[in-house]
Amino acid sequence: MTCVITIANEKGGVAKTTTAVSLGAALAQGGQQVLVVDLDPQANLTLSLGIKPKSVHRTITDILLGNQDINSVSQETGVPGMFVAPSNQDLNMAERYLTVRDGYEFILRGALANTSSHDFIVIDCPPALGPVTHSALVAANLLIIPTQCEFFSANALRDMLNMIRSVRQNSNPQLHYRVLMTMVDLRNRMHRSLLEQIHKAFGTAVFKTIIQTDTRLRESPLFSQPITVYAPSSRGAIQYNALAKEVMKYVHEFA
Ligand SMILES: Nc1ncnc2c1ncn2[C@@H]1O[C@H](COP(=O)(O)OP(=O)(O)OP(=O)(O)O)[C@@H](O)[C@H]1O
Ligand SMILES: [Mg+2]
Repeated sequence: MTCVITIANEKGGVAKTTTAVSLGAALAQGGQQVLVVDLDPQANLTLSLGIKPKSVHRTITDILLGNQDINSVSQETGVPGMFVAPSNQDLNMAERYLTVRDGYEFILRGALANTSSHDFIVIDCPPALGPVTHSALVAANLLIIPTQCEFFSANALRDMLNMIRSVRQNSNPQLHYRVLMTMVDLRNRMHRSLLEQIHKAFGTAVFKTIIQTDTRLRESPLFSQPITVYAPSSRGAIQYNALAKEVMKYVHEFA
């Protein structure tokens, strides 16, 4: 069975794309067949894998508009076992037309169900809770919410939880979620205190693995490589490998 993992948070810059590409690569290097899907017109995931968004002919937009199947849109990446469904600015246009269609939120789920060759599909969402993110939540088995260790993240989490509730009620009752704490600086007292509060409030719905700040994670997209390839012994690579193990364990428990 394919496990679909959606990475979403309406807050910008919380490491959604970094998590999608790093977790995707860590799973692939662990022997899993992985498809990462760029669902953001900014196309940062596409770019960070060395693909020029303007040069791609078939993108995730073709899937949302129902013009292509997912296999014809997917491309190989430099990581064996990891494929990418790229994005570009056309997705802005698709987002406008999408909601005109009845049941638009099921199109992506239907398209992903037609591919059985992947163990994991990891979807990177834009920083908004619009129709594209909605479609990705409907398609997901597991939602990962990357959350920065800062005060304003609590509000964004509240909005995410409301959206999860609505998606569970209307279209995907099985949707599970986990919060992932990102860009944590353990030397910072406020970070340590927020970390404790989030763990208290969310309990087992927070990943045990935390992702600490690591400048190598900022560098790796410039070299078109996921962190686990660019700097395999860096703290970022070690922590994203640990996250991949935790995700695998989760899948074995819940599948
Ligand atoms: N653990 C980390 N340590 C240091 N820098 C990080 C870490 N994680 C992510 N970054 C950097 O933070 C910035 C934002 O990360 P990223 O692009 O993954 O966030 P995002 O949530 O996808 O943003 P957007 O909402 O714009 O899509 C990037 O420059 C990225 O390299
Ligand atoms: Mg992003």
